[in-house]
Amino acid sequence: GRLAIGLDIGGTKIAAGVVDAEGRVTDRVPAVPCPSDQATILKSVSVLIEALRYRNPGVAAVGVGAAGLVRWPEGRVLTAPNTAYHDLPLRRLLQESTGLPAVVENDANAACWAEYRLGNSAAHMAFVTVGTGVGGGLVLAGRPFRGRTGIATEIGHMIVDPHGTERCGCGTVGCLEPLASGRALGRYGSAAAAAEPGGALAALADGSGRVTGEAVSAAAHAGDPAARAQLERLGHWLGIGVATLVNLFDVELVVIGGGVAEAGELLLAPLRASFARYVTAAAHRELPAVEPARLGPEAGWIGAALLALDHEEEDP
Ligand code: BGC
Ligand code: NA
Ligand code: ZN
Repeated sequence: GRLAIGLDIGGTKIAAGVVDAEGRVTDRVPAVPCPSDQATILKSVSVLIEALRYRNPGVAAVGVGAAGLVRWPEGRVLTAPNTAYHDLPLRRLLQESTGLPAVVENDANAACWAEYRLGNSAAHMAFVTVGTGVGGGLVLAGRPFRGRTGIATEIGHMIVDPHGTERCGCGTVGCLEPLASGRALGRYGSAAAAAEPGGALAALADGSGRVTGEAVSAAAHAGDPAARAQLERLGHWLGIGVATLVNLFDVELVVIGGGVAEAGELLLAPLRASFARYVTAAAHRELPAVEPARLGPEAGWIGAALLALDHEEEDP
């Protein structure tokens, strides 16, 4: 069958692989760190594409999910709070350099599409990715919702705490992302490590006292109460964001993905509790299920590849 290369350019890593039209993964390469300048990102992207094309000479299309605000269908990255590119006509550059049809979509929209097609799925569903940043996707009545230009569903920049102290990577104070991302989890973990010098988190801190979000999750899994409390904090804020999503769109399913969602119930249980507390008319409605992404952290590149194949079908 037809094959497409998918890539996910995230705040920290670039992941890539190959899927067929049914969404089966037929090849993948190890993720590489995402470079800190635009030219090197483009270089890494073409190295990954060339490596996958060499092994899969029959690929028919390329799909990219990119962290940031991406115009659809133009595939131009306008700006990104956590990734070093802006005003980048990525779709055109990819088509020129590969000679293949390409699509470029927001990373969370792409992951949402993968879950809708292959994973946890419902006709009206929302997707929230929790990684370096916090992103969102929506499928309404079985169709991706992108707004006028493609940059809708920026749920990481939903304003939840305008009188707070954390400035978001986008420049605004009050966004959900600096309170609920993997980076926030690291910040919370570092503060908890400093508060409890003999504790499990302090033992995981680097020379300057910093703890990563991954370390907090690992300590939480090992049973450390202070680490669990930080995931609860994240869940609290995410539940507030999900409550507003559900208030606005009345979806039947909310899927939580991204690297931090690998923490599983340690994140999801407090998230569900906060969601149920803040969603409006909770006693008078059927609450949507809040479920982990079935495709895990691979949803982004798989979804981008599927979009490339779907799009090719629509307008060859
Ligand atoms: C960006 C989104 C992206 C999300 C997850 C946010 O900071 O604004 O476009 O989807 O991070 O990568
Ligand atoms: Na989005
Ligand atoms: Zn923001």
